[in-house]
Amino acid sequence: MKIKQYLLASVLTLISLQDVTAQAKHTFTIDKNNFMLDGKPFQIISGEMHYARVPRAYWRDRLKKARAMGLNTICTYMFWNAHEPVQGRYDFKDNLDIAEFCKEAAEEGLWVIIRPGPYTCAEWDLGGLPSWLLKNKNIVLRSSDPNYMPHTLKFLNRAVQSFKNVQITKGGNVLMVQVENEYGEYGSDKAYLNSIKHTLLDAGVDVPLFNCDWAGKKYYDKGYVEGVIPTLNFGGNAKKNFETFAGYAPNGPRFNSEFWTGWFDYWGGKHEVHSAQEKLADFKWMVDNGISVNLYMFHGGTSNGFFPGANGSNTYFTPYTTSYDYDAPLNENGEPNEKFFAFRDVILHKYPELKLPELPKPIQKITIPEFKLTPFASLQHNLPAPRFFDTPQPMEALDQAYGLILYAHDFDGELKGELKITRVMDRATIYVDGKKLGVLDRRLNQSALQVNTAAGKHRLEIWIEPLGRVNFGAAIDHERKGITEGVYLNGKALKGWQHYQFPLDRLGSFKASARKDGYPELMKGSFQVNEIGDTYLDTRNLDHGLLWLNDKLIGRYWSIGPQQTLYIPGCWLKKGNNQITVLELGNPKNRSLKGVKDQIWATQLDSTLLHSKAGQQLVLSQDQLVKAGVLTDKEGWQNVQLDKPVTGRYICLESTSSYEQSPVASIAELRIIDARGQEVPREECSILYADSEEFEKENGLATLLMDNQPTTSWQTRWSHEKRAQPHQVVIDLGKNISVAGFSYLPGAQKIKAKVKDFNLYVSKAMFLIQDKNEK
Ligand code: GLA
Repeated sequence: MKIKQYLLASVLTLISLQDVTAQAKHTFTIDKNNFMLDGKPFQIISGEMHYARVPRAYWRDRLKKARAMGLNTICTYMFWNAHEPVQGRYDFKDNLDIAEFCKEAAEEGLWVIIRPGPYTCAEWDLGGLPSWLLKNKNIVLRSSDPNYMPHTLKFLNRAVQSFKNVQITKGGNVLMVQVENEYGEYGSDKAYLNSIKHTLLDAGVDVPLFNCDWAGKKYYDKGYVEGVIPTLNFGGNAKKNFETFAGYAPNGPRFNSEFWTGWFDYWGGKHEVHSAQEKLADFKWMVDNGISVNLYMFHGGTSNGFFPGANGSNTYFTPYTTSYDYDAPLNENGEPNEKFFAFRDVILHKYPELKLPELPKPIQKITIPEFKLTPFASLQHNLPAPRFFDTPQPMEALDQAYGLILYAHDFDGELKGELKITRVMDRATIYVDGKKLGVLDRRLNQSALQVNTAAGKHRLEIWIEPLGRVNFGAAIDHERKGITEGVYLNGKALKGWQHYQFPLDRLGSFKASARKDGYPELMKGSFQVNEIGDTYLDTRNLDHGLLWLNDKLIGRYWSIGPQQTLYIPGCWLKKGNNQITVLELGNPKNRSLKGVKDQIWATQLDSTLLHSKAGQQLVLSQDQLVKAGVLTDKEGWQNVQLDKPVTGRYICLESTSSYEQSPVASIAELRIIDARGQEVPREECSILYADSEEFEKENGLATLLMDNQPTTSWQTRWSHEKRAQPHQVVIDLGKNISVAGFSYLPGAQKIKAKVKDFNLYVSKAMFLIQDKNEK
């Protein structure tokens, strides 16, 4: 009852920032078990929205909608690489003016929580860390490494200056500030965490600090910092997660600092859809039990420009889409959907007296009739002056953050055999003497192709397109783009490279030129707008590339989907003529675009992403069997130990039955444990085989059991061509390892099919894969 009153009081009587500043009468503190607003228990019901992902002109509309849903707080990250794109050059204006964002939130009656990083994750390039850090080859990110930490602390200090005057202690509306992000899941460098804490405090933060992590003592122990409140992130199982939490953090407020309302999309994957039904019970349980919660995301918006991140390692890679729709309560264009109303009902059920404001008037939606794009320049005819190096240099070494880069090598001789590029970061298109030889794509784990060019004078060209830096896990230290090590012909390094850089940060002026088939091609088009409104540019006629509206980079489009359109907010359109520039890197069906009212979700399924071909079968032998056992029917991680360690490089986990007699097997995460009791780093493992993978109705590729995301899983196919048990997945550990066991997290996707009986096989040589069609 008490909480109810104070939530009401805080929601309904939050006065504008100007008034608050004058009176400075609110306080936000923490007592033994509660957040306290003005000395009274306070339940935070927050929604996440990143100001950098929403056009500034629309902040107000989205904030009004947050209030209309019943939220009392907005939570946002600050992205360091947006605020300091070039070392020492800060940007806190326009779309990055966080103080203004807080002020608008205050005017709409919302408190704010700020997560200044420096690392954020968030499906954002390198988790928000600026790529210029990677110019230093030895840097260890997210640590107290002297190559890294001074930059971080300098940024944090600057970041705090931008919002310190809008903290609640200064009469503003900022309630709390986060330290790092899910650090316990990543590392254990307490000196690093403590320095962040002290820098925040010294720079002027005088509201409570918190740090978020997954439920589990191992994360807590690694991420704990004295005086910083621990909070939890998850997408389900709220009750269970808080029970776990109570086991190691019995006191203090309970705050689900990220409740994942949906999930993000990667290129080539199915659009993530998570029904209100799937999320409601957990949300309701938290709201009803007075637990504070932040909906991640309330509104995802768009990762415009080159900001989408990726997940991956050196063996797999899933770059994220331009849209950050997230299947959140507000769509990418800010329209409320079913989840919005379902969540609002939960809040109103708990607080029936709340008088929520009406939703603002919907933003006008417009269509744009089809218009032509005309090729006007080939990048190949617009090469800047090259830089020369013996071995290819990554982009970061050349002070280039994004865009494209061309590596060219002139030689006199033959080019026969295997041409290998290490590492392909991330999509290489290879030409000899102007003829396209092929594409190597890191998403498909490709790094070599066969070449056959007779002796003579030749020019080898490699165009590289980066697709977003990994933002999660240990791979971040190695996310340099372009070619990072070398180009080899039959194992021998090719020396002498010209580097042509296209940072594409500004469109700049390209001189008109003839087309050059198969090379990156610039096209232009324009359309008239009589009535301003939001639209989605339908890119289905194009193949793969980048699109600018009136010289502003909207982002990447790709026919593989899942997004088939790019969101164009009306506030970026002009009445009258609007210019579109497209850099097409593939083979467009037709050079034209049109504007439609809604996003189109469609994925072109690519069976090369699967880990077995039709008719293939794994042949396992009994002498490779090291354990047969039964997994427990429970949520959460479980460990299986071998009787004694066995050395091998290839591991096959075979499910022979699932609970409830399901023919499907579903595994969220799988880790191999070595004889020292350590997990083999997922970054060193790759998936070589899976007998069956769902990818028509949801994302169920076997790589998902190594993505370190408890919410995604390897699902054997259930929508069609369902195979009976057993099911197998084969992991390559990269080298022989003394294997002592494994840990396993059951899947939690649409079809729940926890593995029951299993066999584990370990081998020094790869298991035999038989093709039933070949006799
Ligand atoms: C974690 C991170 C967030 C985001 C989500 C997934 O919880 O803290 O930044 O990456 O995962 O969307």
